[in-house]
Amino acid sequence: MQAITVSDRDAGIAGMTLADLPHPHTAENDVIVRVHAAGFTPGELDWPATWTDRSGRDRTPSVPGHELSGAVTELGFGTTGLTVGQRVFGLADWTRNGTLAEYVAVEARNLAPLPADVDHVVAAALPISGLTAWQGLFDHGRLSTGQTVLIHGAAGGVGSIAVQLAREVGAHVIGTGRAADRDRAIALGAHTFVDLAAEKLEEAGEVDVVFDVIGGDILARSAALVRAGGTLVTIAEPPEVRPEDGRAVFFVVEPDRVRLADLITRVRDGRLTPVVGAVRPLAEAADAFAPGKRIPGKTIIQVTED
Ligand SMILES: NC(=O)c1ccc[n+]([C@@H]2O[C@H](COP(=O)([O-])OP(=O)(O)OC[C@H]3O[C@@H](n4cnc5c(N)ncnc54)[C@H](OP(=O)(O)O)[C@@H]3O)[C@@H](O)[C@H]2O)c1
Repeated sequence: MQAITVSDRDAGIAGMTLADLPHPHTAENDVIVRVHAAGFTPGELDWPATWTDRSGRDRTPSVPGHELSGAVTELGFGTTGLTVGQRVFGLADWTRNGTLAEYVAVEARNLAPLPADVDHVVAAALPISGLTAWQGLFDHGRLSTGQTVLIHGAAGGVGSIAVQLAREVGAHVIGTGRAADRDRAIALGAHTFVDLAAEKLEEAGEVDVVFDVIGGDILARSAALVRAGGTLVTIAEPPEVRPEDGRAVFFVVEPDRVRLADLITRVRDGRLTPVVGAVRPLAEAADAFAPGKRIPGKTIIQVTED
């Protein structure tokens, strides 16, 4: 099968190659999925899991990309809950070969059925952004109706979903980002917007939850915004500065079949719109990874036509 591989950690994006790989192996409770559309995270060539397995052993050549939408072609030993031919979408394991490939082996529990009326390109934009936004806002941030949440990077992959979910639950939503992101963030549901380069973050006022996707100085300065009993949630890095009288949580998104099904229901009934940016073929995946070339929204690799 054709896949994008990386072998040389120092080579970065320049080391991404379209190669022929053996068909993936199904382990217990796996399925093989014929990938129609795949998503990736721009920084994943820096993740240890891209290069090593769970024991820390080298696993190159490895295939990047951890979001997929496609159709099941094989069931592993003992796999239940999904059938051959079924449309599915979800998350591929961090420490196994990923989704920038014609076929991928995935634990069945990490996938949810994909309704026939949802496009693979749209579904592939949802697993990481959707689950991260949900888990950050509600599982870790404990956001509820009537509270105020400040969402950094509100026009980005995770932020754009978080804005929509927070607004749906009845929260007051403050988005942040670059000046060019203001209109998009407001259109997605943010009540107000802070241009981080031109406006003072500190003037946003007290909030119940900060959802950070940027890290660094923005993360550190955000701790002071959290009111007593509130939460600073970040997906960028473990925070060094914590709210004086609140919690700080850094987490890595977890697969969740039930929540994926819930998110896709929202997409179907128009409550949630994943923002898809560029759609590129597999052969152009390396170019799509390159910084500065992305257009706003999630870049999706269309591996095969529907
Ligand atoms: N821990 C986890 O489980 C987890 C899960 C998902 C993602 N992540 C990480 O979270 C980060 C965000 O992911 P994403 O998919 O949402 O990325 P994304 O689509 O690039 O969104 C990030 C947004 O924040 C903006 N931004 C970044 N730095 C900024 C700054 N200094 N000032 C103003 N705006 C800024 C970006 O604008 P520009 O595009 O103009 O820079 C973009 O709109 C990535 O580092 C990703 O690896 C972690």
